[in-house]
Amino acid sequence: MRGIILCAIFGVISASAVASTEPFNWRDWAKRPSIIKRIGALAQSELAKAGHGPGPSSACQPVECPESRDRCKFSPEKNKEVVLDFYSQVFVLRNFSVVDAYYDPDILQHNPYIGDGKKPFMEYIVTSKVVPFQIFRPVADCDLVYLHVKTEDDRNKPLAIVDIFRLDCGTIVEHWDVAQEIPGKSANPRAMF
Ligand SMILES: *[C@@H]1O[C@H](CO)[C@@H](O)[C@H](O)[C@H]1NC(C)=O
Repeated sequence: MRGIILCAIFGVISASAVASTEPFNWRDWAKRPSIIKRIGALAQSELAKAGHGPGPSSACQPVECPESRDRCKFSPEKNKEVVLDFYSQVFVLRNFSVVDAYYDPDILQHNPYIGDGKKPFMEYIVTSKVVPFQIFRPVADCDLVYLHVKTEDDRNKPLAIVDIFRLDCGTIVEHWDVAQEIPGKSANPRAMF
């Protein structure tokens, strides 16, 4: 999808370069508000095509949930509680029954090493090593919850992770993550967290 967005962005930049009478300098493109606006609109339409909601502002409407789901008071704070409970039960206490409680059977997975759905996640998690976790910045934005996490990879190398979850009526329906190794040396005097 990123490729599509980049192509689309490049398309907009080249189109505007052709339309303009001034020579196009790619270094100036970021200063042009109309281009920024169009790129924003393109990103939103790509998100819509990928099956995501139109973004936080309208995703924050009250959600109609089935009566059977009594966790259905879906404020961002409630979504954050669900994710923090899920995360600590699975990764810290290794209580895998929370996967049944919180994970959508058809969860959309963006981590390229894990397939869609509950089963591939279970296969991944039961074989993974126990590693220490510290959650630094849990942030909820409508139906999205972000965690800034310090952990380790399988060879005990420290890692900085951001995990992003999308929730629907108390169920985790989509997941993204990015990971960065924590190097021994830093160019600034602060720790990464
Ligand atoms: C494990 O998770 C389930 C489902 O959320 C919960 O009911 C149970 O109390 C948890 N067990 C422990 C030991 O925390």
